[in-house]
Parts: sequence; structure tokens; C-alpha cells
Amino acid sequence: MSQQLLEESVTGGSAPDGPRSHAKIEAKRVAKLYPKPGSKRETTAVLDGFDLRIESGEFLSLLGPSGCGKSTFLNILAGLETYNGGTVLIDGKRVDGVDKNVGVVFQGYALFPWLTAQKNVEVGLKIRGVPRADRRARAAEVLETVGLTAAADRLPHQLSGGMRQRVAIARVLAYEPEILVFDEPFAALDAQTREFLQGELLRIWESGENKKTVLFVTHSIDEAVFLSDRIAVMTRSPGSVKALIDVDLPRHRTNELRSSEDFVHVRSRVARVLEEEVNYGSDAR
Ligand SMILES: Nc1ncnc2c1ncn2[C@@H]1O[C@H](COP(=O)(O)OP(=O)(O)OP(=O)(O)O)[C@@H](O)[C@H]1O
Ligand SMILES: [Mg+2]
Repeated sequence: MSQQLLEESVTGGSAPDGPRSHAKIEAKRVAKLYPKPGSKRETTAVLDGFDLRIESGEFLSLLGPSGCGKSTFLNILAGLETYNGGTVLIDGKRVDGVDKNVGVVFQGYALFPWLTAQKNVEVGLKIRGVPRADRRARAAEVLETVGLTAAADRLPHQLSGGMRQRVAIARVLAYEPEILVFDEPFAALDAQTREFLQGELLRIWESGENKKTVLFVTHSIDEAVFLSDRIAVMTRSPGSVKALIDVDLPRHRTNELRSSEDFVHVRSRVARVLEEEVNYGSDAR
């Protein structure tokens, strides 16, 4: 059943004829080993035979049991981790170190506590050598996009959790990466703020002239269905992609969609695939 799902989606996504164009992101048979705790020689496979193709402008969520290697893949894609086998390609080129076209929003807020919202956004631009006046203008622009103009001069401790996460998103948007990677960005927020920010994220993603390619890691099936074009469900460790599920729901998506029959149908389909992999006894969230 899940193998069938995987095949359906993999064949369904390719061009009908002519040379197959590059995917924005392509992971082929990726393997990652970590040293076994307490051993110098032995290793544990964290990813094994991990395959994933994400098209330009696509919004794909990655779901899987805790410890299956989601963050590991995300870090490999962002050039922050090496890997031991297979290939990871962006625009057909092998990932080799940090790529300025990949913007990462990590779990937690990772803001500098002594800098205002505005300066926190400017910091990434400063590292990239953008002149001061341009930094200011660009930071003001993206703070407006995320609805935080009035809070530009506040320090992180003067912001709510949802506002802090919006600053973190603004900081990444500021340098206009073509690929946005999120690692459970809304996990620490209350349900209402979380739903609000999901809507905001879609608004921002849809408003761009060229839609960014998004890889979004989450534990929430609802969140994945609401946001995504497709959902990749991983096996337990060592992780690989077990199934790819199309989310055939219309865009522009609003909160009413969450209670629709189609939404519930996709959600239960994803839940069935995920259930087989999650060990409820240990770390069910
Ligand atoms: N630097 C490291 N050294 C050794 N093992 C590591 C390292 N980083 C991660 N691991 C191990 O790799 C496995 C996968 O970790 P990873 O963080 O990718 O999982 P995850 O799917 O993101 O989990 P979660 O959903 O809990 O965030 C885990 O068993 C973890 O303990
Ligand atoms: Mg993780």
C-alpha cells in the first residue's frame, strides 16, 4: 500500500517526454552514519536509502517518527552536515557546504537577545556584506511583510513567542533564498498562534513573484496537510521516505478548509501511513 503510494507520486511528478529537467532539490539514496554513543569505531545508520525530489516552487512537508533523521536531512540540505553515501542536489548541483540560496528557520527562535527585531533581521544581511542603508530598508520591508513594523524597535524579550518566530522568518526572508527550510518552527506555540502563523506563512509564500521552494519539517499532520502540496512520510530510523502523498486541496487555503471532508480524508490517509512507523510507547507527540 505505502510502496504503491510512493510509486504513484514519484512517476506522477515527472515530465511526460524529453529530457527530465532538474528538480529544485533531489536526494538520491542518501546515507548518513553517526558514531555509536560510547564507541570510537562503531556507527549507526541514521538515514539509509533516502530519496526525495522537490520541484521548484513546491511546498513539501516531511513527517516521521522522532529520531528518524528529519533534522539530519535538513542539515545536510543546508550544507551544515556531511553525508556518507548517495547525493543531494540543488538545481542539479551537489550540495557542498552552506548555500546562500537555502534559508533555514530552526526550532526555537535563535534571536540575539540584545538586538532589536530590526537589528536581528539586519544581522543576516550584514554577514552577507549588504551596505547599511540597504540593510535598513530591506529589514523594514520584510518586517512589514510579517506584520511587525510597530515592533521593529523591541528586544526579543519584549515580543510574544509568535512575534519572535515571525522575526526569525523575516530574518531568513530578508536575503531572499530560493529555498526555505523549516524545522518544526511552530512547535512551541499555542494552537491559535500556530494556526495564525500557518496562514501567514502561506500568505507570504503565495505573495512572492517566484514562489520559493519549501521543505517544512513538522510532527503535526494537520499542519502538514494545511500547508503542503505534498507530504513525505519517513520510516523510523534509519530513515528513508516511505510514502509521498499528494495534498489535492485548493489554494488559497483558509481555516474553513480544516473542517472540510477532503481535508479530513487526506489527514486520515497520512495518519494511517505514519501510524505504522511511530512507536507510541516512547515519544508520541
Ligand atoms: N551529532 C550527532 N551525533 C550522533 N548522533 C546524532 C547526532 N545528531 C543526531 N543524532 C542521532 O541521529 C538520529 C536522528 O536525529 P534527528 O535529529 O535527525 O531526528 P529527527 O527526525 O529530527 O527527530 P525529532 O523529530 O525528535 O526532531 C537520532 O537517533 C539522533 O540521536
Ligand atoms: Mg528534529
